[in-house]
Amino acid sequence: MKIVTVLGARPQFIKAAPVSKALAEAGLDEILVHTGQHYDANMSSVFFDELGMRPPAYTLETGGGSRMSQVSRGLAQLEEILIKEKPDRVLVYGDTNATFSGAFAAVAHNIPLAHVEAGLRSFNRRMPEETNRILTDHVAQWCFTPTPEATQQLAKEGITGHWVGDVMLDALLQFSPTAQEHASWVALKNQHGLEKNSYVLLTMHRAESTDKPDVLRDLFKTLNNSGHRVLFPVHPRTKPLWKAIVEETPLANIIPVEPLGYLAMLAAESNASAIVTDSGGVQKEAAMLGVPCLTLRTETEWVETVAWGVNQVIGLDAEKLSSALAALQTNAPVAVSLQTIHQYYGSGHASQRIVALLQGND
Ligand code: UD1
Ligand code: UDP
Repeated sequence: MKIVTVLGARPQFIKAAPVSKALAEAGLDEILVHTGQHYDANMSSVFFDELGMRPPAYTLETGGGSRMSQVSRGLAQLEEILIKEKPDRVLVYGDTNATFSGAFAAVAHNIPLAHVEAGLRSFNRRMPEETNRILTDHVAQWCFTPTPEATQQLAKEGITGHWVGDVMLDALLQFSPTAQEHASWVALKNQHGLEKNSYVLLTMHRAESTDKPDVLRDLFKTLNNSGHRVLFPVHPRTKPLWKAIVEETPLANIIPVEPLGYLAMLAAESNASAIVTDSGGVQKEAAMLGVPCLTLRTETEWVETVAWGVNQVIGLDAEKLSSALAALQTNAPVAVSLQTIHQYYGSGHASQRIVALLQGND
């Protein structure tokens, strides 16, 4: 069986790492196609290197530009690859423009499509990710869901989902044991004195946040004045805005660094006293690692993390952020039991379940 996997953005390299390993262990032929949506070394090749993945067989040029331009460039280049490779399955992950390009290319060529991380909804159709994932779920032959709720959501939409667990838990369990000793983390930790619980970790990259410079400036100021030191790996989308803001207003308590590799990121997350983010994957990793998370969005797809009390959705609201940061100093962190994590995200073997289902063996 030949599988073409289409990926293109940072979180997809991390999600694909354990699945590619499981596909190889099962003796399946996987061709990796990187759409080139993310292309800087620290947004792309670092993950292939650190996570022991084979380099992509094809790397397309879809990075930068509008959503339509990324998708249409992806489709044109994918068509040639699908005609040449004639795969039995196409595999896509998550909700990015690369996901949608891969999904549409597969259905246009009548190739059965599998979607990993299916069934998530923010119910906010203004997010490009929401429509990417809805469109993909509705044309996929296999919808592999990370949580039982995601399967229930698909059922409401008339789609059969297969709950396999979350491949991001597979990745976290596989790579956490070596993260603290990884040279990239040791260097960062020593350079900035990042002892356990001595800083808050911040990530920001959603268009909804970066499209509002005044709001973002207020959030940064609030973080800077919160009494916490803040470690901030700056996503390329946010970089120009961040630079413009600090040129006007120096923010000495925020430590900007280049985007981190996955191992340094896992270590940075687990040693943080709290995480402030608008990332989907980072919210969930915070819950898996038991680190309190403040989510700078108006809604989340990972609703269980809020129900567990480890994640608070506070919107893009500087006042609420300020109160939540102050409360962190007095409230004891919420511990989520391993049993609960496994009940929702599986036991760390979602990848093997996906491979079995793709082979028709489950
Ligand atoms: C994309 C996904 C988002 C995901 C995020 C993960 C969509 C619609 N959005 O958002 O769901 O959460 O990836 O990080 O697919 N850029 C660089 N270097 C890079 C990558 C990007 O300079 O290596 C620049 C691009 O040129 C572009 C901007 O960053 O100007 C945004 O990149 P893009 O891939 O369009 O969106 P993300 O915000 O990364
Ligand atoms: N991540 C990373 N380095 C960073 C920031 C994030 O390795 O500097 C990892 C993070 O641990 C998680 C994934 O990237 O596994 C989340 O990706 P991102 O926040 O870019 O996208 P989202 O999950 O919001 O789609």
